Amino acid sequence: MRQDHLISAHQLTREDVEAVLDRASEIAADPAAFRTRRAGEVLALCFFEPSTRTKMSFDTAMKRLGGDTVDMGTVESSSITKGETLADTVRVIEGYADAIVLRHPSEGAAKMAAEFVDVPLVNAGDGAGQHPTQTLLDLFTIRENHGLDDITIGVMGDLKYGRTVHSLAHALTNFDARQHFVSPESLRLPRSVRYDLHEAGAQVREHTDLEEILPELDVLYVTRIQRERFPDENEYRAVAGQYRIDAETLEAASDELTVMHPLPRVDEIAPEVDETAHARYFEQAHNGIPVRMALLDTLL
Ligand code: NCD
Repeated sequence: MRQDHLISAHQLTREDVEAVLDRASEIAADPAAFRTRRAGEVLALCFFEPSTRTKMSFDTAMKRLGGDTVDMGTVESSSITKGETLADTVRVIEGYADAIVLRHPSEGAAKMAAEFVDVPLVNAGDGAGQHPTQTLLDLFTIRENHGLDDITIGVMGDLKYGRTVHSLAHALTNFDARQHFVSPESLRLPRSVRYDLHEAGAQVREHTDLEEILPELDVLYVTRIQRERFPDENEYRAVAGQYRIDAETLEAASDELTVMHPLPRVDEIAPEVDETAHARYFEQAHNGIPVRMALLDTLL
């Protein structure tokens, strides 16, 4: 990787992605071979926003490499409640760890924090900005199921606030991927992301109806409406529940369609879909382990 920190999917070239995913495949095939790779090294977990998968999988990934973790704990239990700045917090923590994983509600927080530390800092989600490690495990899952070239992917739901979408869409510009974005008008991809995809030469179309493109898709990536990012609860209510799939929706899909979701889901995928051959979202979440092991091993 060109830089020590992983802040945005914009840093990831095709070669970087392939290198991490290849290593993740090696790890998945023989995890025992990596059991002591990072013995004696420590990863700091700094989560200023709720997390289950990202935090636990980084924690497990580091331990499965033979390393250890220290956890800042919740914001409420830390010195942040005393008014400490993010810059000071990460400067202190870099003295305790060999790398830092940071999640924060403000867009740009990881980029800013990285300027204050010398150890590798990984962005585990910055507000509605980026979530590049989710993207790596998403790409791993897509690669396992379809390969990463000559694919048609539909991304549906909250494209405005969904950081996993912003990172994935950019990373896919490294590959021969046709991207269809499905959302209500009010949750379209932000202008800056559309511009960026255009500049990167991405093959992009936008839709308000899934039916228009569902039969063409190899992958359908469903996302949660990011309730916590809506300035106004009424705006949330107006769109909640609109973009939901169930077994009946999927009757129009190809048999090969892979349904993905970064999780947590609320009600955008009916539980009955879990029983179909399309569902890959739990497998996707589990892929977070080898992929984050591979990433940590690369950065450290
Ligand atoms: C996502 C996130 O935090 O952005 N969760 C995750 O890391 N898998 C998606 C979401 O919260 O909807």
